Amino acid sequence: MQFNAGEYIERTIKKLKAELSGVRSEEILAACSGGVDSTVSAVLVSKAVEKPIKAVYIDDGLRRIGEGERVVEVLRNLGFNAFIYDAKKKVLGALKGKVDPEEKRKAFREAFYSVLGEIIAKNNAKFLVQGTIAADIVETVGGIKTQHNVLEQIGIDPEKFGFRVIEPIKDLYKWQVRLVAKELGLPDEIVYRKAFPGPGLAIRIVGEVTWEKLEILRKATKIVEEETKDLDSFQNFAVLLDLKATGVKDGKRVYGYIVVVRVVSSQDAITARFVEIPYEKLRKISLRITSEVPEISRVLYDVTDKPPATIEFE
Ligand code: XMP
Repeated sequence: MQFNAGEYIERTIKKLKAELSGVRSEEILAACSGGVDSTVSAVLVSKAVEKPIKAVYIDDGLRRIGEGERVVEVLRNLGFNAFIYDAKKKVLGALKGKVDPEEKRKAFREAFYSVLGEIIAKNNAKFLVQGTIAADIVETVGGIKTQHNVLEQIGIDPEKFGFRVIEPIKDLYKWQVRLVAKELGLPDEIVYRKAFPGPGLAIRIVGEVTWEKLEILRKATKIVEEETKDLDSFQNFAVLLDLKATGVKDGKRVYGYIVVVRVVSSQDAITARFVEIPYEKLRKISLRITSEVPEISRVLYDVTDKPPATIEFE
């Protein structure tokens, strides 16, 4: 497929200029996760209005170790007026007691948008920029899952929450977004950043999300990311199951969590293949997780492609 990133940028900025004519840059807020989609969207909009816009990183408690601090630093280096908004209580509160995957997604989405509404009201913003891309829309409309950031396509009116949504790259696929990011001169850390789902670790904890499980999963995630960073993969992560299994630690029988390691290659997230990790690497991951995270007693590797599985567990 032919794709010219330079032309795309020019065309999109022109379109955004028309859409945002007369809007003050302070009225625009970009929801930034640090991923390539939301960063590219925010950069395109700030280029269109020719001024730095506000960029918020929402800390909902479902992110990885040190993620918020790093994202805000990168966004500030790009010239954004960036800040972290603490929404842990609200989002985790909404997830409490929920075990069904779709119910979790819906609860997350409601809480997330209500938090955004709160942030927008506090900042007197009228426009919300978000990095929805084509795959998000295709899968939500197709009923494969309730993507957290696709609203209008499924008949939810964002104006109910008090703002208008701008989605500058909703016609692009991930590989195209990366080309646009490169063309915009964004740092490699952003251009090649692996996808991380909007609902974060909530969809990597099978069953109820609790702070204890989140802390366990954060540690396992860090180990998996560190140990597989040299592999060519689309995503590499850990999943916490809602089952426990016996193990032996320090000569004592323990009953610990089971973690699944998932590393996949993919072009567009619509299909994916599990990566054939060398056994030695798997053993190292397993040893590190079980010794560095005392609550975990077993590590499994997922050998399922998409389809029939999805990339995430929920
Ligand atoms: P699945 O699990 O459906 O995931 O194969 C496909 C791709 O989408 C990501 N994903 C999400 N990203 N909000 C997002 O921003 C979501 O609700 C969401 N659900 C899944 C997933 O990580 C993979 O890259």
